[in-house]
Amino acid sequence: MCGGIAAYKAAELVRLLRKQNAEVQVVMTESATQFVSALTFQALSGNPVQTQLLDEYEEQAMGHIHLARWADLIMIAPATANIIAKLSYGLADDLVSTLSLAATCPIYIAPAMNQAMWRNPATQENIARLQQRAVTLIGPEQGEQACGEMGFGRMSEPATICQHLMTALSSEKISPPESKPPLSLLGLKILISAGPTREPLDPVRYITNRSSGKMGYALAEGALQAGAKVTLVTGPVVLQAPATAQLIQVETAEQMYLAVTARAQDYDIYIGAAAVADYSPAQAKAQKIKKQEQETTLVLQKTKDILAAVASLPDRPFVVGFAAETDDLEGYAKRKLQGKKLDMIAANWVGKAQGGFEKDENSLHVFWHGGDRVLAMTDKKQLARQLLGLIIERMNEKNTVKNPG
Ligand code: C5P
Repeated sequence: MCGGIAAYKAAELVRLLRKQNAEVQVVMTESATQFVSALTFQALSGNPVQTQLLDEYEEQAMGHIHLARWADLIMIAPATANIIAKLSYGLADDLVSTLSLAATCPIYIAPAMNQAMWRNPATQENIARLQQRAVTLIGPEQGEQACGEMGFGRMSEPATICQHLMTALSSEKISPPESKPPLSLLGLKILISAGPTREPLDPVRYITNRSSGKMGYALAEGALQAGAKVTLVTGPVVLQAPATAQLIQVETAEQMYLAVTARAQDYDIYIGAAAVADYSPAQAKAQKIKKQEQETTLVLQKTKDILAAVASLPDRPFVVGFAAETDDLEGYAKRKLQGKKLDMIAANWVGKAQGGFEKDENSLHVFWHGGDRVLAMTDKKQLARQLLGLIIERMNEKNTVKNPG
């Protein structure tokens, strides 16, 4: 996005593209951020918005080269006279122009500017040069302009642009995003546990935690999209389960333990993404507990560790655990990897501002025996695909695939 009054229309474009299942990463020039807020676009795209060419964090996590390689298509909307001139001369002095120069994918532009600027021979020469280089033009349209003048220069409507892009993405040149999964899990059976558990105290009360289930559900969705057969053992959450997953709904840690351990040996991978209660009331009362004394004591007993139980099965799947920590992330994660005899553990901070429980975004520090990798902050769907990719990498190294083909 560049800085023009039509920038507000780009919000609708992002929304329409997302509705078509396109993955969208928004890059804004400095002046675009003067017209509309990056936050709006972060919320609409589900991805962090990038604005800086020389940003330490972005250059490490997803720099301009990475972004250019990631995209199936680049759409510059609105495209100002300035960016059109820069593209035509190959200038690279901000993130939008630099990633366009680094890209090998098709580039589309939706010009938006005052009619006199559009008609100016300088702009027309630049446009002609870009068209020779197979940059595709969408619009501009004729009509009343924000400045009150009439003529060519209005940015095409978001629905029109979206239609052009979806046609381009489904043409032979470019594969549509959903038919190009980043990895193949074809033939693999994956068992995933997700969400919190509920440990009843009496018929009306229970102990639970803040897990939303979003990470586990994103893993299920990512695995299904990559061709795996997925069974999702889920605690009570408010999420819509992927239609093609086999769904097993449970409430307590004990029910989750039974559901998982009864089937784990039939699966190639078990991912324990659930926030299982570590303790449950020793005895759930049959009647509602009455308010009486000033103080009362709950007697809790340890629940069974599902991950450790699966990891100690004779014909065990590849076992992946999660560790949500408020301190010493690395230390606790590594101890759990060893102690529970896991193949991999994905650790994340909780109780801090950066993602975690209930949020749509997270970052993970993944450990396995002899290695680790940081998956930078992104939305949980993208994170799920990255984690599945890592699992496959590790499995291929260990060669533990049980049901190939
Ligand atoms: O030991 P801790 O509960 O912190 O470990 C977290 C990991 O262990 C998560 O993957 C969680 O699903 C799993 N877990 C389990 N059974 C329990 C408790 C936790 O499988 N009873």
